[in-house]
Amino acid sequence: MHLKEIIEMDKKFFMNTFGDRTPVCFKYGKGINLWDIDGNKYYDFLGGIAVNALGHSHPNLVNAIKTQAENLIHCSNLYYIESQAKLAKILAENSCADKVFFQNSGAEANEAAIKLARLYFRKKGLENKYEIITFKKSFHGRTITTIAATGQEKYHKTAMPLSPGFKMVPANDLEAIKAAVNENTAAIMVEAIQGEGGVNLIDREYIREVRKLCDEKGILMIFDEVQCGMGRTGKMFGFEHFDIEPEIFTLAKGLGGGFPIGAVCAKSPVAETFEPGDHGSTFGGNPLACSAAISVVQTILNEKLVKNAANVGAYFISKLGELSQKHGIISNIRGKGLMIGMEFNKEIAVEIKNLCFKEGYLVGNVGPNIIRILPPLILKMEDVDLFIDMFGRVLGKLGKE
Ligand SMILES: Cc1ncc(COP(=O)(O)O)c(C=O)c1O
Repeated sequence: MHLKEIIEMDKKFFMNTFGDRTPVCFKYGKGINLWDIDGNKYYDFLGGIAVNALGHSHPNLVNAIKTQAENLIHCSNLYYIESQAKLAKILAENSCADKVFFQNSGAEANEAAIKLARLYFRKKGLENKYEIITFKKSFHGRTITTIAATGQEKYHKTAMPLSPGFKMVPANDLEAIKAAVNENTAAIMVEAIQGEGGVNLIDREYIREVRKLCDEKGILMIFDEVQCGMGRTGKMFGFEHFDIEPEIFTLAKGLGGGFPIGAVCAKSPVAETFEPGDHGSTFGGNPLACSAAISVVQTILNEKLVKNAANVGAYFISKLGELSQKHGIISNIRGKGLMIGMEFNKEIAVEIKNLCFKEGYLVGNVGPNIIRILPPLILKMEDVDLFIDMFGRVLGKLGKE
């Protein structure tokens, strides 16, 4: 089909939640590159918004999916599933978690985390401990409850009346969070770096104090690692940057490298909260999703992609820093590993994103003045050099097209 026909069909039959999308339809990908239906080549510096951890069509992931699909795509959670048990073991052995439960998306994983935290206290007879404190500018998903957990009003409007039991505080303000905690607080839920909120970093000392506060008050800490997890920030999990451990953390996006899967991971005794009948999922943790995720996690470990994300990310940020010296419009560059945000002192992020696209490079914008870069973890220094050349050209062209 031609792009025009696809767009017409989409406009007629697909619910228009994504507005006018970038006018392209991709046909195949390899490594960090994508090709559209007309054969044009692109460099993917958005990685499906932090999903394509191994890049496109990594042979390990393709073979894992093929082999599993030829044997067994799905069977019910009424039966034991080998790849599910194996994936849970790998995640537990490579994190602070003792047990894992699988879902199909980040929002579902966060729903499970919230449910787990509340049920943990309810089973202790503490029904009043249900409130979850989250942060302004956070993002936790699009389900009714994760919208309520999300600290951005633009999402709240879409799901009124909001699910009860959430309280929002500004990040990096210890007094505010201390004031928000009371006898109803069950958990504090946080992203190590706020992705959808604009690549906002959290202070190390602040979050370590929040951990202490949780310990003192008997509150659980939940890290939403949906975007930061699986090596994205140059550590396997974002919370490792702070040398603290949460009782619960969630994963999705990079975990399946493009195959939909989510996970809630918890330490004992919280991990033992879910008992038969307390939770479930038809698709969550099915053989195909778990085999795909096993191949992703093993490849991240074997190919040392976490270290690669840290090294190439640091190089990327330093090169962007050099570029910003030449172009006064970049007001801030921030991030860790391959989760990078660039803030501009004018509302030009959409124009920049479009100019990058014309050059064959995919990046994202958060609001009108932040560009977000989330490339595959296999990115090399040479790829960064190509990007920097291109980005220099784009910044030179601004306002001239
Ligand atoms: C931190 C975070 N949590 C949750 C989600 C929701 O994940 P999903 O879209 O897979 O439901 C996202 C998605 O962007 C996210 O970045």
